[in-house]
Amino acid sequence: MLRALFTSLSANRSLRAVAERSSVGRRLSSRFVAGTEPEDVLRAAQSVNQSGLSVSIDDLGENVTSVEEARASGELYHCLLDEIAARKLDANISLKLTHMGLDIDENLAREQVSSLVAKAAGMSPPSFVRVDMEGSAYTDRTLSLVRDLHRQPGNRGRVGAVIQSYLRRSEDDVAGLLSDGIRIRLCKGAYSEPRTIAFEKKSDVDANYLKLAKLLLKSDIYHGLATHDESLIRRLKRFAVQEKIRPGSFEFQMLYGVRRDLQQSLAREGWGMRVYIPFGNAWYPYLMRRLAERPANVLFIARNLLRK
Ligand code: FDA
Repeated sequence: MLRALFTSLSANRSLRAVAERSSVGRRLSSRFVAGTEPEDVLRAAQSVNQSGLSVSIDDLGENVTSVEEARASGELYHCLLDEIAARKLDANISLKLTHMGLDIDENLAREQVSSLVAKAAGMSPPSFVRVDMEGSAYTDRTLSLVRDLHRQPGNRGRVGAVIQSYLRRSEDDVAGLLSDGIRIRLCKGAYSEPRTIAFEKKSDVDANYLKLAKLLLKSDIYHGLATHDESLIRRLKRFAVQEKIRPGSFEFQMLYGVRRDLQQSLAREGWGMRVYIPFGNAWYPYLMRRLAERPANVLFIARNLLRK
């Protein structure tokens, strides 16, 4: 029930507007969000790198409704790539198509992501653009845009997609992306989806995750397994060892502020580990999705707030 409540709160525009402007709101989000300014996230990325982990930087924002806002978000990602190069960070970027203007004009989003992928591909060493996956209304358009961009000369391996194991269609989508050689981030999925298209039971979502992750591990393409689920991670490590899959040929991925102990122990064991670090003012929907995943985080955040 709490999960449904937080998922529906994540889409509430009025609450979002109030929360994101309040200083208490910003303090509440600080456990999962690295700050509001680019400098905040770059500093966080450097510190995560220093502890031996890779990073993906996410400028928070989604469903923007003005061309100016969409263009400003694209520009900010260009600056982030410049800073990643200048500071020699072990980092790439993650973005959402609705932050790049997909709800306004698909060509605007395409043009913006295309120029970011070209920039990432031209960097030395080359960087990478991960296109996050949003709700199912965007799945087809997101996958088709990633596949188109990946086909452009020079872009191979420089742009990747996200697959959600709660969607029944995901096995087919994985097959399509693998046939193009596209890097995939596999996650369980964070949106509210109807039972006609998504598995309802956690055990089915987890079983599909394991099945798809094994396909990815055997594919000879560098993928990201994004989960904090310790039992799944244990099974995937066992599978990788059994199948003689090198630890450096894929990476685990986790969110900033979640299971830092597990992030560190995986890295110490020699597995690739990337931390997804979000920043910016538009933190409200992101935080609500984190609370939906684990309502106990409400207590955790409240305790932190009282302690400050
Ligand atoms: P699950 O929810 O089953 O949790 C397993 C265990 O992990 C819990 O028991 C708890 O211990 C811990 N845990 C999980 N979430 C936690 C939290 N918020 N706080 C504290 N502990 C927590 N989704 C999406 O739809 N599109 C996307 O593009 C992405 N991108 C993405 C990138 C990365 C790097 C990650 C890690 C996740 C995403 N997600 C996502 C979110 C993803 O779909 C999913 O909602 C969360 O990762 C939670 O699922 P778990 O796999 O962690 O398992």
